Amino acid sequence: MAEQTSQSISISRHAFSYQPPAIQGDFQGKHIISVDQFQRADLDILFQAATAIRERIRTQDRGLTELCAGKVMASLFFEASTRTDMSFQAAMRRLGGDVIAVSNGVRFSSMYKGENLSDTIRATGCYADVIVLRHPEIGSSYEAGYYLDLLNQRIDNPTVAISGGDGIGEHPTQALLDIFTIYDQKQALDKLTITLVGDLKHGRTVHSLAKLIANYAAAEVRLCLVAPASLRMPSAITDLVKSHQITVIETDNLLDVIEETDVIYWTRIQEERFGERAAYERIKDRFIMTPRMLKLAKADAILMHPLPRKHEMGTREDHDILDADPRSIYFEQMENGMYVRMALLVKVLRGVYV
Ligand code: NCD
Repeated sequence: MAEQTSQSISISRHAFSYQPPAIQGDFQGKHIISVDQFQRADLDILFQAATAIRERIRTQDRGLTELCAGKVMASLFFEASTRTDMSFQAAMRRLGGDVIAVSNGVRFSSMYKGENLSDTIRATGCYADVIVLRHPEIGSSYEAGYYLDLLNQRIDNPTVAISGGDGIGEHPTQALLDIFTIYDQKQALDKLTITLVGDLKHGRTVHSLAKLIANYAAAEVRLCLVAPASLRMPSAITDLVKSHQITVIETDNLLDVIEETDVIYWTRIQEERFGERAAYERIKDRFIMTPRMLKLAKADAILMHPLPRKHEMGTREDHDILDADPRSIYFEQMENGMYVRMALLVKVLRGVYV
């Protein structure tokens, strides 16, 4: 098991200490491992680039393919993914770059001969300019950053790591696209009540999102956390948000907060993260977003979800009804993911976006 602190990561198979660099207005060459690296000004820079890229795609501007021409992205996914993997691949291709992956999937990589993640990462780093890594172990992306820094001292072509989710740790790029989507829909975050619902213990998307929201104290954002007692947000994260003087309301009953919520962020109970099946079965039906429930929300609320969804949005019929509601914006959220990832790739690989 791995242990995570805000300062360093130690993984039992090989202890090391690594803190990803703060962005501070300069993305070039920096690994993207945690939302802790971002301040509000960095988010503004990234979102401006994502907006400009989206506009250029909408107006059929073909110049985008020059931005990452000749660059290679390696897609290294040791956990299931549809959106993160494909949006990164699409992003890189739309920027004119190439994408590599292990032929026939990572199940045929040397890790299945017993190779360490650190060696697999460095092998990939010898071939690619950027590696997008998803791995089931918390801290794995920190390990990637640490070993790529060592490798980069020895090879001509340095490589950047971007986390696509590390176990129950973080999912930084998802949180970036989530905040971008809230901006997009609401124009500003000022005075918004943002409510995260579901498996807040194991959900890496909500961990990163809550931490990013801490950047918006000046906007007087309020954060509501709705989860059963056994699946509450880790206290290290709630404490961090509170330390920024943001009001945090925790409850196990959505009805306490739904009427005053502007952004409802629904999540899946993370079945694969439960040690014991019975524990999952006991909790899995606690929070279901149905068309009846959405009726209670504000007329201008938005309903987000990182997806995939299962029964936490009711039946297939319920899905269809929810999807048709203009307040449901998870498909727009998904599309934004590609624009934000395009902006991020350009920024880390080239530094600028013009
Ligand atoms: C999420 C993930 O993988 O953490 N999905 C995503 O990346 N869009 C959410 C989940 O699996 O529930």
